[in-house]
Amino acid sequence: MQSIEQAVTILRAGGLVAIPTETVYGLGADARNAAAVEKIFLAKQRPMDHPLIVHLSDMQQLSAWAREIPPEAKKLAAAFWPGPLTMIFKKAPGVLDSVTGGQDTVGIRMPKHPVAQALLTAFGGGIAAPSANRFGRISPTTSEAVREELGNAVDLILEGGQCEVGVESTIVDVSQGQPVILRPGMISAADIEAVLHQPVAAAEKKTLPRVSGSHDMHYAPVTKTQLMSASEIAQLTTQDLPFAVVGFTQQALGISVLMSNDPKRYAHDLYHVLRELDKKKLQRIIVETVPSGAEWDAVRDRLKRAAHSG
Ligand code: TXA
Ligand code: MG
Repeated sequence: MQSIEQAVTILRAGGLVAIPTETVYGLGADARNAAAVEKIFLAKQRPMDHPLIVHLSDMQQLSAWAREIPPEAKKLAAAFWPGPLTMIFKKAPGVLDSVTGGQDTVGIRMPKHPVAQALLTAFGGGIAAPSANRFGRISPTTSEAVREELGNAVDLILEGGQCEVGVESTIVDVSQGQPVILRPGMISAADIEAVLHQPVAAAEKKTLPRVSGSHDMHYAPVTKTQLMSASEIAQLTTQDLPFAVVGFTQQALGISVLMSNDPKRYAHDLYHVLRELDKKKLQRIIVETVPSGAEWDAVRDRLKRAAHSG
């Protein structure tokens, strides 16, 4: 494929390529090239001390990045890679400080999107890639959204259609003994526990290492966004216009978007819906609170951040 060759040429020359993955689009650079990695931070306007995920195409490459691969990690890799899972390992010598945020650990993921796989295989090395949005904004799930976010700051945007998962990968820290979930995603705690046959903790906020996704105001639309129950939404009147309701049943009020009650489908649509509503320059986006089950953890997490007024 012509565009994959072009992308490899750009990466080897220290440029930036936007890469479709099954979660969200990433902004990729050669993870061994400090100058290239620095461009990611400049393009995103992201604080320099926030670590990046290194994307690999296969398990053979892992030991060049991780100095310890605990048995739990091997099991999780066998079950979920390639796929929407990131693991935090103790870093191997030589991993750039700009990639790890100066920490002793490194985040690794093997994406399963065919375009990401083709690129990683052709490139043959690690690609550092955060989500391809400006810092604090909604992650892009289409190539048009990447263009809106980053425009000319990226040398090439690979087309990969709309991302299947739609929210960022589940992050599991396997560097400290007991695995800990740092960021919920479509691979749930229950999915992980089923593979490890042991309970998995979710990180307490105050003990988290630097994870930019854990800032309260992250993944936020520009429009003021609020969470409300169905009964609160029912009390809104048309005097509250202009606003949009994103929910399961409230179709009568404002500009309304009917969401799926399947959490996977909901996650797939969420960022795209918020991004499109944001363009309408409404007074408010009101999102109906989602059900309480664990299968909604990833969506609930992203909604909480989107609604944080900062
Ligand atoms: O689905 C995804 O993970 C997407 C696609 C492009 O792979 N990437 C993504 O990257 O969401 P980013 O940078 O937006 O979020 C990655 C998160 C950040 O919150 C970062 O702080 C955390 O991973 N992270 C990376 N390395 C880490 C480390 N060594 N320790 C703790 N957290 C780390
Ligand atoms: Mg991000």
